[in-house]
Amino acid sequence: MTVQFSPAAGHDRFVGRAISRVDGPAKVTGLAKYAGEFTALDLAYGVVVSSAIAKGRITGIDTAAAEAVPGVLKVLTHENRPATSTKPEDYQDAVAPPGAPFQALASDRIAFSGQPVALVVAEDFETARYAAALVRVTYATERPHTDITAQADAAYDPPMKRAGIKPPPEPWGDAAKALEAAEVRVGAEFRMADEHHNPMEPHASTVIVEKDGTYTVYDKVQGVSNTHDYITSAFGLKPEQVRVLNPYLGGGFGSGLRPQYQLFLAMLAARDLRRSVRVTLTRDQMWSFTYRSEAVQIVALGADRSGKLTALRHDAVQGTSQFEDYQEVVVNWSGVLYECDNVALTYSLTKLDTPTPGDMRAPGAVTGVYAIETAMDELAYATGQDPIALRLKNYTERDPTEDKPFGSKALRDCFRQGAERFGWARRDPAPRSMREGRELVGWGMATGIWESMMMQSSAHAVLGADGRLEVGNSTGDLGTGTYTILTQIAADTLGLPMEHVTTKLGDTRLAQAPVAGGSWTAASSGTAVMKACRAIAEQAFKLARGMENSVLANVDFERVVFTNGRIELAGDPGTGIALTEVLRATGTERLEATGDAGPDKDFAQNYEAYTHSAIFAEVKIDEELGQIRCTRIVSAIAAGKILNLKTARSQILGGIVMGIGSALHEESMLDHRIGRFMNHNLGEYHVPVNADIHDIAVIFVDEEDKANPLGVKGLGEIGIVGVAAAIGNAVFHATGQRIRHLPITLDKVIGAD
Ligand code: MOS
Repeated sequence: MTVQFSPAAGHDRFVGRAISRVDGPAKVTGLAKYAGEFTALDLAYGVVVSSAIAKGRITGIDTAAAEAVPGVLKVLTHENRPATSTKPEDYQDAVAPPGAPFQALASDRIAFSGQPVALVVAEDFETARYAAALVRVTYATERPHTDITAQADAAYDPPMKRAGIKPPPEPWGDAAKALEAAEVRVGAEFRMADEHHNPMEPHASTVIVEKDGTYTVYDKVQGVSNTHDYITSAFGLKPEQVRVLNPYLGGGFGSGLRPQYQLFLAMLAARDLRRSVRVTLTRDQMWSFTYRSEAVQIVALGADRSGKLTALRHDAVQGTSQFEDYQEVVVNWSGVLYECDNVALTYSLTKLDTPTPGDMRAPGAVTGVYAIETAMDELAYATGQDPIALRLKNYTERDPTEDKPFGSKALRDCFRQGAERFGWARRDPAPRSMREGRELVGWGMATGIWESMMMQSSAHAVLGADGRLEVGNSTGDLGTGTYTILTQIAADTLGLPMEHVTTKLGDTRLAQAPVAGGSWTAASSGTAVMKACRAIAEQAFKLARGMENSVLANVDFERVVFTNGRIELAGDPGTGIALTEVLRATGTERLEATGDAGPDKDFAQNYEAYTHSAIFAEVKIDEELGQIRCTRIVSAIAAGKILNLKTARSQILGGIVMGIGSALHEESMLDHRIGRFMNHNLGEYHVPVNADIHDIAVIFVDEEDKANPLGVKGLGEIGIVGVAAAIGNAVFHATGQRIRHLPITLDKVIGAD
């Protein structure tokens, strides 16, 4: 059944407006608690000891000095840790790639630098930290391989595909031949640094042992069900023995999709000691798991003199760990973006002695779109085309990789509105043609793309006799505004003021929903909430109609609206009845309903769903010093219906800032001799700070989509995609130098690279 979103008519319509976060006051007053802040009377503190080597074996681990410190309760190592499941599949969480997930303290083997080798548990944090420094570990060191360039020859086609990740499409036409025959060719290798997630809140888990022996777990995770299922299978517990909560996240860009090792260690210690344990990772330990892997990419484009593509190749090799085949969609975007008769796309992996890479905001698209959109700029120069004109020449209304039309694609409007706001028409395309004092000025643009997905999600709603509504499910609000948009949707569906709606998230006792990721939460949980509220509306209407002398006695459901807490005859505001009155008069304590949402099979059979963007960037570069400033960004976004202009804009702003980071700042530097990320702190791993961010304008273009009844496509990720290419293209325009290795730092600009 298709349920159309039909909010109450009139003034109280919240969806589509700019509304401040409902969780804002809790966050700014400190009432919002995070995973590492929950406590218990018997709480003990665990501190992780990290491996000093990247590959080899532990030959000895001396814990005596640590154990002798008063207040130390236990030092857990591979030698004394209690047994957990021996089956690798029991550690595979809902979004795990193929392979055998890392298990902390499982053996003496070291697989990556920073791997946890011991957990020191003490009565207080300071004691645990001090004692952790006294643990002495000796190793038999082997030479690690962490250089993707050196390992690129050993690249392999992953034997098992990761669930939900589309492998590259089969090639079509003959790209090699067409490339050879092309009138114009561009092609190059693109590189991009490893990047690490650095949400403000580091990963933390608090495991509380309840009096009845069950566990209440607060975990920094993007969806509590994933943590719950991981714990019960790894520790052999029954579902009802574990409750997981995480009401708030201090940012989640993908590192919180999978349960991380601090959770496993906190559970291990809590079960062993029979007391509550908290483990919080330090900032530098944030470099000891999941990261955005560098990729070696080659893009080759062939075109006729007018710029019409005749051949497109995109090959990528990405790193993964020795124990899992992490995969993301890197090259497919090139096939989806442009119409071309001869296309070949390949993606392979190479094994590195690092932790398993993982999803990081727009995983794969950030990487692949950077390469194709830089190559398209090169083709624009090679054919003397304006970059927008070139993209329009190769525009496609169908997804060539699936041979299906897009459900909606307002990218032309993104180009038009973005260009107008930016002033693109005033651009002189000649490199080095614009200057302001000692600074070269450059203008560049790129396209962004991300998939729009629906995931199976439920939501539950309860309307009380006082007219207050509670809705919710187990997914997480990463800080994206999920609490707020769900509250808006619920309030509109039942015609209630937002103040009368409470949204609850991040608790396994709530209706089942997946991790918040992939930009699917607004569409999936939003639809589920809308359906649950819609079901309550129908129940309330039925009750109202059956009431004695009901004014709605002979009215159909389609003819009423829910507004101001009342059910009213459409177009006749006087005729109706308050919801509270319906419940009171019928002796109903509360109404409740569950709504289920998921992919629409009919839609999926006939359409492909993507969000798009056009990004315009201005850079100013000090000609002598090479210092680059990104002084202006305009991003025009086509992402279906925008539920909340304020939180939506914040999502795009955040994505753009992160994109500026990719383009100009972020780089986890490996010392390949020891296989270690060396700049594992925010002093040396540069992220954009306020001084790096100037003008950013966000435009939402109108787009009607039918993938779900809300018309929503998701916004968490599209903001970052293509930003690095737009900035790199602006750097070329400013300097005449094509830098194909991110981040574009000043040493590269002045030619020292
Ligand atoms: Mo996102 S990388 O799916 O958290």
